[in-house]
Amino acid sequence: MERPEPLIVASNRGPVGFRHGPDGALEEVRGSGGLVTALRPLVDRMDVTWVASAMSDAEREIAAGGRRTQRSPGGSEFWLHLVAHDPAVYARFYGVVANPVLWFVQHDLWGLKLDPEADLGVPWRQGYVEANRALAAAVVEELDRVPDAPVFVQDYHLDLVPTFVRAARPAARIAHFTHIPWVGPDDWAVLPHEIAVAIHEGLLACDSIGFHTERWRAAFVESCEALLARGGEAERRSHANPISVDVEEFEAIAAGDRVRSRREALLAERPEILVLRVDRTDPSKNAVRGFAAFERLLERRPDLHGRIGLLALLDPSRETIPEYVDYRRAVEDAVARVNERFGRAGWEPIALVVRDDFPASVAAYTEYDVLLVNPVLDGLNLVAKEAPLVNRRDGVLVLSRGAGAFAELEDWVIGIDPLDVGGQAEALERALDLPQADRRAWLDAIRAHVRAHDLDAWATRELVELERRAPCREAGATMRS
Ligand code: F6P
Repeated sequence: MERPEPLIVASNRGPVGFRHGPDGALEEVRGSGGLVTALRPLVDRMDVTWVASAMSDAEREIAAGGRRTQRSPGGSEFWLHLVAHDPAVYARFYGVVANPVLWFVQHDLWGLKLDPEADLGVPWRQGYVEANRALAAAVVEELDRVPDAPVFVQDYHLDLVPTFVRAARPAARIAHFTHIPWVGPDDWAVLPHEIAVAIHEGLLACDSIGFHTERWRAAFVESCEALLARGGEAERRSHANPISVDVEEFEAIAAGDRVRSRREALLAERPEILVLRVDRTDPSKNAVRGFAAFERLLERRPDLHGRIGLLALLDPSRETIPEYVDYRRAVEDAVARVNERFGRAGWEPIALVVRDDFPASVAAYTEYDVLLVNPVLDGLNLVAKEAPLVNRRDGVLVLSRGAGAFAELEDWVIGIDPLDVGGQAEALERALDLPQADRRAWLDAIRAHVRAHDLDAWATRELVELERRAPCREAGATMRS
């Protein structure tokens, strides 16, 4: 039997998280977020070593024990190498530079120039740079163990990792994938020049540079040209490859007991017409405008009162960052306002649940009539692919033109502009009135697309793109079947 190909993955958040349980013992938790959800099944297909940051005290404890083997839910073993950063370094890296600064810049939500106290010097040099250096050192250590392994560096947290790895191991085969949008040179110009340049140079230290969409890739080429006069290199090394779902794994989750019990609970209390949104409590997800759109729908359509409900399942996110704390409050206020205005005994127009409960989200995916995905900008948005796969009610997807997934799915969704609240209300109404035959045909088309462009296709393409630009020195390795 051919051995599976080794692969080193590096990301900030690991594929599995750890916390201390009530008795103080270490407990495993599912790594949350789109990147981890999408990449985790790779451990069942390849011989993976995963380098990630220790994000909690429990994880720091594990990091102190060195690299360890870990078993995936699919039963395969992989190496987990957690890196414990100095807490002050990590706070600057994750809580200031990566989020909110890079996140906001790359989602067009930037407001730093309005903050007279914003100073990125220390957070950059003693946060982002140091954390990237430490993660790169762990990658280099792993490369010494498996020298031919390709290195998959993931996302905006790790933009400098390729620079450090390349300096230490010039022959390494390095790919970077950005899971969030990329923006043009004017947007990058709001950052200190040194920072914008280092980020672009970091990606250009890779052999292969991936984005979810052609739109983000083109912006990268443009900003490389403007900042570094290296647009040609960026053009040659970059590609668009939208990530997707492990269809088999996802359908197995949907058929599992934990989803079944939550589905039964939902069926017992669901309104006649269910509108659903599933997001993190992130300003880029645009939940507040979504609630305002639902409010307008209720204004226009009194006939729906008592029959329709919006279920908002929001995963609490980045709760130490002030902008996220404020946004969560804004979300709660918006829901309270709508419920106060329209609610009556026996009918709550919006049900807001702020909890990390993946099985509950999957259960709700099976039951929606309309799925609202209205981010301001979004690298891809996996909910737009996951939910239609398992929906049982010919549900309609109302999708923002700012989501990367829109480029793939636009023929089978109702498109919306994220800042146009009235337009979103009209789109919800159109979705409700869509003829049954169209609802079915659109859902089937989305499913067929996701099945044909699944996670295997994404991972294979990433390896092919890397191989094309930095050929492997040793043949004979393959993906596990
Ligand atoms: O791509 C964006 C991302 O990094 C994904 O992993 C996920 O959607 C989210 O952000 C997770 O963010 P955090 O690790 O800060 O919870």
